[in-house]
Amino acid sequence: MQFGHFDDVKKEYVITSPKTPLPWINYLGSENFFSLISNTCGGYSFYKDAKLLRLTRYRYNDTPLDQNGRYYYIKDGDTVWNPGWQPTQTPLDSYECHHGLGYSRFVSSKNLVAAELTAFVPLADSCEVNRLMLTNNGTEEKTLALTSFVEFCFWNAVDDMTNFQRNFSIGEVEIQGSEIYHKTEYRERRRHYAVYAVNCPIDGYDTDRDAFLGAYRGNDRPETVLRGTAGNTVASGWGVIGSHHIDVTLKPGESRSFIFVLGYCENAADDKWEAPGVINKKPAKEMLSHYQTDEQVDAALAELASYWDGLLAKYALTCADEKLGRMVNIWNQYQCMVTFNMSRSASYFESGTGRGMGFRDSCQDLLGFVHLIPDRARERLLDIAATQFEDGSAYHQYQPLTKKGNMDIGSGFNDDPLWLIAGCAAYIKETGDFSILDEQVDFDNDSTKAQPLMEHLKRSFDFTVTHLGPHKLPLIGRADWNDCLNLNCFSAEPGEPFQTTGPSEGPVAESIFIAAMFVKYGKEYAAICRRRGNEEEAVYAEKEVEKVYQAVLDAGWDGEWFLRAYDAAGEKVGSKECEEGKIFIEPQGFCVLAEIGVKEGLAEKALTSVKNILETKYGVVLLQPAYTKYYLNLGEVSSYPPGYKENAGIFCHNNPWISIAETVVGHGNRAFDLYRKICPAYIEDISEIHRTEPYVYSQMIAGKDAAHFGEAKNSWLTGTAAWTFVNVSQYILGIQPDYDGLTLNPCIPSDMEEFKIRRYFRGAWYNITFKNPEHKEKGVSSLTVNGTAVEGNLIPITEGCTEYDVVAVM
Ligand code: BGC
Ligand code: NOJ
Repeated sequence: MQFGHFDDVKKEYVITSPKTPLPWINYLGSENFFSLISNTCGGYSFYKDAKLLRLTRYRYNDTPLDQNGRYYYIKDGDTVWNPGWQPTQTPLDSYECHHGLGYSRFVSSKNLVAAELTAFVPLADSCEVNRLMLTNNGTEEKTLALTSFVEFCFWNAVDDMTNFQRNFSIGEVEIQGSEIYHKTEYRERRRHYAVYAVNCPIDGYDTDRDAFLGAYRGNDRPETVLRGTAGNTVASGWGVIGSHHIDVTLKPGESRSFIFVLGYCENAADDKWEAPGVINKKPAKEMLSHYQTDEQVDAALAELASYWDGLLAKYALTCADEKLGRMVNIWNQYQCMVTFNMSRSASYFESGTGRGMGFRDSCQDLLGFVHLIPDRARERLLDIAATQFEDGSAYHQYQPLTKKGNMDIGSGFNDDPLWLIAGCAAYIKETGDFSILDEQVDFDNDSTKAQPLMEHLKRSFDFTVTHLGPHKLPLIGRADWNDCLNLNCFSAEPGEPFQTTGPSEGPVAESIFIAAMFVKYGKEYAAICRRRGNEEEAVYAEKEVEKVYQAVLDAGWDGEWFLRAYDAAGEKVGSKECEEGKIFIEPQGFCVLAEIGVKEGLAEKALTSVKNILETKYGVVLLQPAYTKYYLNLGEVSSYPPGYKENAGIFCHNNPWISIAETVVGHGNRAFDLYRKICPAYIEDISEIHRTEPYVYSQMIAGKDAAHFGEAKNSWLTGTAAWTFVNVSQYILGIQPDYDGLTLNPCIPSDMEEFKIRRYFRGAWYNITFKNPEHKEKGVSSLTVNGTAVEGNLIPITEGCTEYDVVAVM
């Protein structure tokens, strides 16, 4: 069952019923100011940091679902309705929500009045613009009352939700004409304030939430709105809202537009506070002056559209499969941008208050995003590297506003350091910019400890070398990629909950997953050293990689698949000898993609085991059999009921590793099958089962052991976005950026006869046509570049050439 459809021409997903199984959201904003917006206008806004500078308040996990947003009430006689249906839930005569790239548009109507609400964050300013166009489609004049609504958050979203003894006394506002200023905290010289304004004279306003709603009422039936006149209330202390009241008369056929702006403003450090609480409104007025007319709004929207067109043009596929086309060309890349911006901080499943930017997460997000805006990838890498410790380990997370490592979470995830090598290698392969390695980067955000980025990579590499266990495999620390595999945290007594913050490292528990990462990214480290002329270091690195490779063969193979780990007692995890959790997905995918066991014939065996034991109709589950009880020696992984999350859920993030692994052994049909299974566009018609948005990946789909097999959760912010894009763009469609140029190595379904890709790479455009007349699954047998036949599968870079026409025959 579907709740909408794709519009590929407009690059939109069009939702046709407000009652989607869950709120289906979109992200507005590209650099500093961001908003989450659901298909019923719910959501919230923040500046840079969803925890520390939150503009509007959101009520999590509330009933009815999805409470608080930017709302517009239209009172037409006794009927009050909203263009996005919530919060009044008045049945609409028509409704559509178009989620597009960086904007959302609501098109709805009631009793012959049509509303078109377009919400977006312009590229040029730190604000959300909402243009509401009302049209009278009837034959009689209409007299309407229009009321806007946002509820302000007192900036620090955690404090806002918890510290009521203080917050109920600090709210302050100021109203000037059609501008409502939210200035709580300004008194204490915090410089920031918010403005909510409309581009026309108003007939009233409200800023006191409780007076606006009336006692014991919710947003669904505010007393003020039902009465039809504003209260002109000035909030003091209690809940602060921004609400404009406008009386609107529309002749038959007449349209009128209203431009509302919710902006973040800051006074400069040298601005004088004239008196406590007196804000300098200049920045706000300057910003508002940019959005006074429809022409200005249209221009800002056009600018946004061309920004996205420019970005997405960098990898554009033409093929016969329209679902593949819309994922590759639009939605997968769009989601990669969103994960790059948000990491795992703010979604409808991440509150924006707990997690900042993840070290591992952001490095992986970069793999899917680096071709879009390499400059921002560069900056991100330097920020991430600055949170590394001198011994090579790293803060697991950092706050985007301060860029400082998060002390509460700390370090100890032994895979983290290697992800930095992965991110840097991807950046250099994309850009050819080795100079990034010479940048001075702090350790632990301490500038007295700064060293070139190259030294950070060495510390990353050496961290694994110096943290090997009894089988010469890498020690796992608190956990590796699988945050829930807590093999050193079994100190909790029976009956006590697991402690993921237990001893950060034991001397015994080892990870085959980190071993695979070390082989893959250790080779990259060696390649980088060699290209920088440090042959000695390259040889040393290769030797260390070889040892770990051998250790995996010696102690990491279980007969039919790769083992997952050794626990703190030296017992096997993910082995046929285990009672439950006999086989895990991660080492099968990552060992094979690191090419471990390919020449030894183990790779094919491991993938056959995955197919036979882990694969289901909705994707590949993380492990089998699911843990049915809690294991002190394994930690959080066994705390989940069977089939959910890391305990045998379909953890989408690592499904592409299996698909990539299939390409490594040349199975194009299998690789594509696996790609399709979790790919949103291919499962749109089971939206009632899948439940999350059909245009983006979710972190998890409930596995076959769960009561709700096939139900997805945690949409949007997941490494699945980057890894599926890496998979489809580099391994399936086969365009791989490499140090010396683009390498072509497609591995596709054999019935795919031809496809074309236009790709931007290092200042040039590549128009690549792949032909597959013999229905092969892998490889390129002949290559022609600008009319000349070329040996091998690397497109040589020609000085000065800005357009390459390439034909690759498989
Ligand atoms: C979740 C994991 C997540 C981790 C992040 C756990 O509770 O189950 O999926 O990676 O938290 O800290
Ligand atoms: C979610 C985290 O964001 C990611 O870093 C981790 O790898 C997965 N959970 C698996 O535990």
